[in-house]
Amino acid sequence: MPISLVTGGAGFIGAHVTNELINRGHQVIVLDDLSGGFQENVNPKATFVQGSVMDHALLEQLFDKHKFEYVYHLAAYAAEGLSHFIKRFNYNNNLIGSINLINESVKHKVKCFVFTSSIAVYGKGQLPMREEMLPEPEDPYGISKLAVEMDLKCTHEMFGLNYIIFRPHNVYGEYQNLGDKYRNVVGIFMNQLMQDMPLTIFGDGSQTRAFSYIGDVAPYIAESVNIPAAYNQVFNIGADQDFQSMTSRVQSVKC
Ligand SMILES: NC(=O)c1ccc[n+]([C@@H]2O[C@H](COP(=O)([O-])OP(=O)(O)OC[C@H]3O[C@@H](n4cnc5c(N)ncnc54)[C@H](O)[C@@H]3O)[C@@H](O)[C@H]2O)c1
Repeated sequence: MPISLVTGGAGFIGAHVTNELINRGHQVIVLDDLSGGFQENVNPKATFVQGSVMDHALLEQLFDKHKFEYVYHLAAYAAEGLSHFIKRFNYNNNLIGSINLINESVKHKVKCFVFTSSIAVYGKGQLPMREEMLPEPEDPYGISKLAVEMDLKCTHEMFGLNYIIFRPHNVYGEYQNLGDKYRNVVGIFMNQLMQDMPLTIFGDGSQTRAFSYIGDVAPYIAESVNIPAAYNQVFNIGADQDFQSMTSRVQSVKC
């Protein structure tokens, strides 16, 4: 039975990836500090450990104890716009925390390190987004994701750790946190609708977004480690059909 670590497994995408792994016969250890996720999201067949990827002593203990074959690193605080104002936290949590995990993965000869990066690495106006483009992130969240991507590449070259990078965008579905007003437009809209509040639209409403259902994303992330051709590659993952903001249905528009 393969043993996998899922960081952020109490969060939205991580909880689904955990379910997918358990369905594929993995033994799963979930590490999550519950800063943005909920323990009830965690599949009862997984072992839950409450803690942070910033705690490298805890990581050492976990890696020594469990001999992970695969690491799925989904833990992050993914508030893109807010990241300008919480830079130190952003880089500690999203960059240094990731490096702690990469170091342990090298030391313990993990077979593959799967990382959820983001389309935030592309930056503004780079459309259509293609993996071979030069990334130009424009906020600390995107910079931290790109730095982790770059570190994975050079760690592979230096120490041989295999990795797979996914760049998702605007994923929605069950377990999504609706309470964080700084992230994920579907969750923000749902929260506002349930409170009978107007939907907040920035700009003039002519901007477009593509959205992806979690059931179309999580299985690929889970299954990727079984596809050697995917090793040491970067993948955009998600829908490419865009939707325009529904300005006519919005009662008031905040710019
Ligand atoms: N949801 C999306 O549309 C989307 C788009 C692009 C990228 N991503 C990336 O996918 C990953 C998962 O996103 P999500 O939407 O499920 O977010 P989420 O907030 O629902 O899940 C993240 C989980 O990580 C945990 N966490 C945060 N910091 C931690 C730390 N230091 N140690 C341990 N656990 C920690 C949180 O408690 C939470 O449970 C993130 O890396 C995010 O950047 C998500």
